[in-house]
Amino acid sequence: MALLHILPLNVTVHLAESAPLSDLEFELKDRDVIPAGCRAGACGACVIEVLKGFGCLSEPTERELELLTFLGYGDGRFRLACQCRINGAATINTENLEPHF
Ligand code: FES
Repeated sequence: MALLHILPLNVTVHLAESAPLSDLEFELKDRDVIPAGCRAGACGACVIEVLKGFGCLSEPTERELELLTFLGYGDGRFRLACQCRINGAATINTENLEPHF
């Protein structure tokens, strides 16, 4: 079982091991926690800041890192939620993450 703590919502969600973070939409049905976009790592709508447990997320691909850098989130603290799978426990921030070109 993986645990994802989401700020500023201050909610902890239990996910299956290796679950994609996009599963949050099923766990938190009535809350729009992470904006949904292409779900394919191409639009950048789902940027999250990883506050703890970065190593519990699947490794980013070169393509994901390129898009994060393009969007101004290339300093290693950010991920595209639609491209992450979680194993273990992590804390993310979902607020104030508009692309800043
Ligand atoms: S939803 Fe488009 S990059 Fe994640």
